[in-house]
Amino acid sequence: MIRKIIISMSLLAAIQTAYASEDEIEAGKILYRTYCTQCHGIEGDGYGINVADMEVLPRDHTDRKEMMTRTDKDLFKAIKHGGKSVDKSVLMPNWDGNLSDDQISALVQYLRSLCCTQKQK
Ligand code: HEC
Repeated sequence: MIRKIIISMSLLAAIQTAYASEDEIEAGKILYRTYCTQCHGIEGDGYGINVADMEVLPRDHTDRKEMMTRTDKDLFKAIKHGGKSVDKSVLMPNWDGNLSDDQISALVQYLRSLCCTQKQK
C-alpha cells in the first residue's frame, strides 16, 4: 500500500517536471525581471543596461540554437553556482545565496519558454 502511494507520488513529480506549469513559468518571469534583466535584458536577449561595461556578453536566452545545446541541469547549475561552475564567465553571478532551488527551477522553466516554446521572433 505505502509502496503504491510512494510510486504514484514520484510519478506525479515526474509528470510535473515534464510539463512545467504556467504558474511556474510566470514565477520564473517575475524572478527574472527582478534579478536577471539588468544583464540579460528585459527580453532575455543579452542586452541589459549593464552590458556596456562587460567584457563577456551575457547569454542571449532567446537564442534557440545555442540554448538547445544546454540541458535543464546545465542551466540550473549555471544559475545556482555561477558562470564559473559551467566554464563560463565569472561575470555570471552565483545565486545560491539568494534563491531557493524551487526559484531556480522556475527560472529554468522561464528560460525554456523564452528560447524554445514561445513563438520565435
Ligand atoms: C551581472 C550580470 C549578470 C546577471 C545579474 C545575471 N547574469 Fe546570467 N550571465 C551573465 C554573463 C556575462 C553570462 C555569460 C557567461 C559566458 O558566456 O561566459 C551569463 C550566463 C548565464 C547562463 C549560462 C548560459 C549558458 O551559456 O549556458 C545562464 C543560464 C544565466 N546566465 C542565467 C541567469 C539568470 C537566471 C539570472 C538571474 C537570476 C542571471 N543570469 C543574472 C551575466 C549576468
